[in-house]
Amino acid sequence: MITGHTQLFGIIANPVAQVRTPQVLNTIFEQRGLDAILVPMQVDTEALPKAFEAFRGFNNMGGFIVTVPHKTIALHLCDEVSVAAQNIGAVNTIRREENGRLVGDMFDGRGFVRGLAAEGWGPGGRHVLLVGAGGAAAAIGYALAEAGVRSLTIANRTRAKAENLAARIGEFFPAVRVVAGDTNPQGFDMIINSTSLGMRAGDELPFPADLLKSGQLVAEIIMKPERTKIMDIAAERGCHVHEGFHMLTHQAELMVNYMLGQEYGV
Ligand SMILES: NC(=O)c1ccc[n+]([C@@H]2O[C@H](COP(=O)([O-])OP(=O)(O)OC[C@H]3O[C@@H](n4cnc5c(N)ncnc54)[C@H](OP(=O)(O)O)[C@@H]3O)[C@@H](O)[C@H]2O)c1
Repeated sequence: MITGHTQLFGIIANPVAQVRTPQVLNTIFEQRGLDAILVPMQVDTEALPKAFEAFRGFNNMGGFIVTVPHKTIALHLCDEVSVAAQNIGAVNTIRREENGRLVGDMFDGRGFVRGLAAEGWGPGGRHVLLVGAGGAAAAIGYALAEAGVRSLTIANRTRAKAENLAARIGEFFPAVRVVAGDTNPQGFDMIINSTSLGMRAGDELPFPADLLKSGQLVAEIIMKPERTKIMDIAAERGCHVHEGFHMLTHQAELMVNYMLGQEYGV
């Protein structure tokens, strides 16, 4: 029951109908016995600064999530952001502090890493191939380097984006070998599809599946469909398969803790 005491949270996107965050976060609120609700808010890019300004004046708002296409612009609209968010160049979670200050952080990559660790695949010391160099790949690549992978190879259709991302991550984590490469999965412990290839039935595969070897981990971040073609082929070839929903469920706890001002870990 929503009452006058209920604390308000939101998810801002455009469009917003497809997001799953309300279901996931409202379930966490309920499990924790919190009098809180998260609602979808469809906001055009041009209106984003006005929305941020309005939220500064919402005294019963705890925070909000931002997703496509707002993550990069939102970074510049916050009063303060974490070092990780600054380095990645995007935020996806914003806490509204009591004085109305909006403080942002980025949990996409950390959620992914926590999901891997929960399944017994902590990335520390591993050789990882990250396919894709878009927004999700940047957050995941940064978090993998932060988690201490042995090496990180980034492969992308637009090679220059892979080179640029590898150079940026390598600068922040000089102890990790970060390079741009091709999509050949041979020799890697983990291969991660962070492209949007696999969302549509006719999509080509993100990397050559016939080169996969039994024992490798193939991780997906696409949530719809729940099983992409590359996951089916990887499983047939004896690979471990990691589903896309882990990334959302594991970052959801981090997002809630962060918006409530609680210790949130990495
Ligand atoms: N599970 C989760 O919690 C979660 C969170 C965030 C995102 N996601 C999913 O992650 C995926 C990527 O999101 P994003 O925000 O990173 O998107 P993005 O910034 O638009 O990046 C898209 C990436 O896919 C590549 N790509 C797209 N079409 C391709 C094609 N035909 N052939 C080869 N590469 C292609 C792009 O390569 P180019 O650079 O060459 O264009 C780029 O690397 C989406 O499916 C999204 O739903 C999941």
